[in-house]
This record gives sequence, C-alpha cells and structure tokens, in this order.
Amino acid sequence: MIKEITVAELNPERFIAENVADILTAVGDGRAINALSGGVDSSVVTMLGHRALGSRLRTVFVDNGIMREGEPERVAALFRDLGVPVEVVDARDEFFAALKGLTDPEEKREAITQTFYRQVFGRIVKESGARHLLQGTILTDVDETVAGIKRQHNVFAQLGIDPEKTFGYHILEPLLPLRKDGVRVVGRALNLPEEIFNRKPFPGPALSARVIGEVDPERIAVVRRATAVCERHLEKAPVFQYMAILHSDRVPGMRNGRRVYGRQIEVRCWNSLDARQATPTRLPWETLEAIAADLIRELPDVVSVTYNIAPKPPSTMEAV
Ligand code: XMP
Repeated sequence: MIKEITVAELNPERFIAENVADILTAVGDGRAINALSGGVDSSVVTMLGHRALGSRLRTVFVDNGIMREGEPERVAALFRDLGVPVEVVDARDEFFAALKGLTDPEEKREAITQTFYRQVFGRIVKESGARHLLQGTILTDVDETVAGIKRQHNVFAQLGIDPEKTFGYHILEPLLPLRKDGVRVVGRALNLPEEIFNRKPFPGPALSARVIGEVDPERIAVVRRATAVCERHLEKAPVFQYMAILHSDRVPGMRNGRRVYGRQIEVRCWNSLDARQATPTRLPWETLEAIAADLIRELPDVVSVTYNIAPKPPSTMEAV
C-alpha cells in the first residue's frame, strides 16, 4: 500500500529534501537515467533527479513521432535554460513501425509501451550503464491501472511485473504518494516555470490517443495540426483539457465545387476536477465557429467538424 500525501499534508520543501536524499541513497555513486516527456510529472522528477545527481543524471527526451507541434525542441530548450541538459533521441520510425496496422486502442497503447521500454529506452539505458530509472508515476496512475480502467504505461511494479527482471533496471518513483495537485505544488517549489507546473494534462500515448483507427505519420500530422488550432483558440480557456480527434471514416463533402470524401475532426473541451468525471464546456458559439473555420482552412481534407456534448461517463475524455 502506498501512503498518500494529500496537498493539505504536503510540505513541498520537506518533500523535495527527503526525495533528493532518497535518490542519492538509492543511486549511490552510480548514474541514473530519466525520460522527460514535458508533462508535469516527468518534469518534476527531472528536477528532483537533477538536484540529487547533477551531471550523473542523464535526461532523455524520446521523440516518438506522436508529440505535439514543436514539442521536443521546446521542452529541451526550456530545460536547457534551467541548467538541465536534455538529449533528444529520434525514435519516430520505430514507433510508427510498431503501430503499423493496429486499430485496437489497447493494442496501440501496448505497442507504444513495448517500443518505449523494451526497444528504445531499454536500449538507451543498457548503453548508458545506468542501473536506475527515475519515473514520474503518481498515485492516480496506480489507482486506474489496478482498477483496470486503463493500462497506463508506467506502473509495471504495481501490476506485479518486475522491471529489473523484465527490462533490466530499477525504477525509482518519487511521486508515487502524490496526486496531480501535489505534483504541481512540488513543481512550483522546484522553481519550474508555471507553463510547466500548471500544464494541462496530456496522455502518455500522446496524439495516438486522438487518432481513431490506424496511427501513421500522415494521420498524426493531421491531428497535430488540428491540436495546434485548438490550442490557439483554447489555450487561455479556464477548462480542464481540450483536444482534437481524427475519426477513421471519411464522409462526403464539397471542396472547390467537387464532391470529395473528406476527414472528420471532433473537438472536445472538458470541465473536470480530477478526470474521473467530466462535462463538456459550454464554449461560445463564436469560438467553435472560429475553430472550425481554421481547421477547414488549414487542413484541406477536412469536411466535417463536430463538438462532443456527451459527458464522461459514458464518454471518456480521450477518444482512444
Ligand atoms: P479518459 O480518456 O480515460 O482520460 O477519460 C482521463 C484522463 O487521463 C488521460 N489519459 C491518459 N494519460 N496515459 C496517460 O498518461 C493514457 O493512456 C491515458 N489515457 C487517458 C486523459 O488525457 C485525461 O486527462
């Protein structure tokens, strides 16, 4: 059983000091490695590891090809400015090869997990000689995985899989007692910029969670552009999360006076406290129209833009 630390109980300075000490004890005079995704959890873990180990921590950003526009460069630059060197590893081809032909949501998640741990990151860890991997698993990840709600990619130990035997390394998870609100408090105390510690949630399987059906570079490029459009319009909206989803079936439409079978984009924008339940935001009609106009202009294949008005449950927040 993991003992939860609620925000009310959390003393961020003490949490940081204790975890820096724990990381040092665990790693000894060895080296650790850490995958940074740019999300709140992995960013906080990166800073904790950096405080504890300095240059003995190797931070890797795996470009899996399914990230948002400009994300690898942006995250690496931001951490470099904070004094943390980040190595960007281009693994796009490996991830797309693993996703080829898959349409089932759980198979897609599994392909991403296996490609990340067994192939790409496993290889980097073995080459590096590091025996310890720092990881930003939080309590909610464990709860959801144990409850069978979702196969999160980062909770092997909780599923009874020994990462040392299966993958060859130890996993350190300093954020396990915290929920997202606590992680944000620790992130602020670590002097991370607000754009990081207050970042909206983004799923581990990244844009592939927003592609219904097969994930390939072309379909990812469509959803990536659509995501950028939504971000432009909704970035400042006081909402929990928003997203653009690419549907798998094409529908009839008219483009340049000709009948075409075009793509469908679904926009979702959620109010929620903790992602367990959520209601669609009542976005102003003008905002929805402006999003649709930009999607149609910037994505020449799009003929249908819809807005999801079903709550979770029965909907889920992501489409996949
Ligand atoms: P759902 O779609 O399950 O999403 O209603 C609830 C929240 O969890 C995020 N999410 C994920 N995060 N790996 C993650 O790290 C995943 O596989 C995953 N699936 C969903 C989602 O963005 C939302 O905030």
